[in-house]
Amino acid sequence: MTASVTVRVPAKVNVQLAVGPLRTDGFHDLANVFLAVGLYDEVTVRPADELRVTCSGADAAQVPLDRTNLAARAALALAARHGREANVHIHIDKDIPVAGGMAGGSADGAGALLACDALWGTGASREELLEICAELGSDVPFSLVGGAALGRGRGELLTPLETGGTFSWVFAVADGGLSTPAVYAECDRLRGTTPVPDPEPSAALLAALRTGDATALAAAVSNDLQPAAVSLRPSLAATLAAGEEAGALAAMVSGSGPTTAFLTAGEAEAEKVADALRSSGTCRAVRVTSGPVPGATVCGTARSS
Ligand code: C5P
Repeated sequence: MTASVTVRVPAKVNVQLAVGPLRTDGFHDLANVFLAVGLYDEVTVRPADELRVTCSGADAAQVPLDRTNLAARAALALAARHGREANVHIHIDKDIPVAGGMAGGSADGAGALLACDALWGTGASREELLEICAELGSDVPFSLVGGAALGRGRGELLTPLETGGTFSWVFAVADGGLSTPAVYAECDRLRGTTPVPDPEPSAALLAALRTGDATALAAAVSNDLQPAAVSLRPSLAATLAAGEEAGALAAMVSGSGPTTAFLTAGEAEAEKVADALRSSGTCRAVRVTSGPVPGATVCGTARSS
């Protein structure tokens, strides 16, 4: 019998986040270019009397442990589809910033889903897993798939993208999180009555990803949620400026923020930008990593004797 399954799931950064007008269902159509980067949460599931979620890691205290946690919702959704109880203990070892615009909650949803599928021997198809992911949240399918992908619709309709190399990133973690719905609402408020075009992926950006050209990618990155995130958290402007001054090729808010993302020319440049951000006093923590990396992956299975 399988005693536990552990799944490792990466964070994401959006190299393009083009936000269309507000839809009648409360979402926005997007042209969302995701890149999975090497900061990971690890989700471990093991049989238990009832559904339970625990969390470890520096920011564990900020993670909800009730049924609003996407990991718990993922287990419940898979169990309901397969006519079984979601009687598992889900443990999240959290390294992705909480409410940071890096899809940490989505990562835990995708991780728990894949882990429960393996633990229970559900044998769900990739298609079914992706369908459940889309029900859980707009960014959850990408956490399963990883790599680089274009998300259309509300971000859940994915087309994998080819990438010609690895990109070096620095992430500046801010104090506290930002609520995704609040950032979208602020984006609508700032836009007022200005007509909003349908979101389209940037051809230059897709070409830069394909060729692995960091300078060209930096020239093409964009995030329509950035003005809203900075409006709600004005101190982000100083973090962005600090990274730019230190030589980042591009400085941007990651998704709905408040984590800021800095694309650099390579590993040495990333370390230089990271040092400058650390001494700038404009952020809580600094992380250096790269992407693309694979999506949710089973990395450990223990068997009981
Ligand atoms: O899908 P998810 O649960 O991550 O969305 C959280 C919230 O973010 C939504 O309720 C909505 O307010 C906003 N959102 C949006 N348009 C999207 C994705 C999310 O307005 N494409």
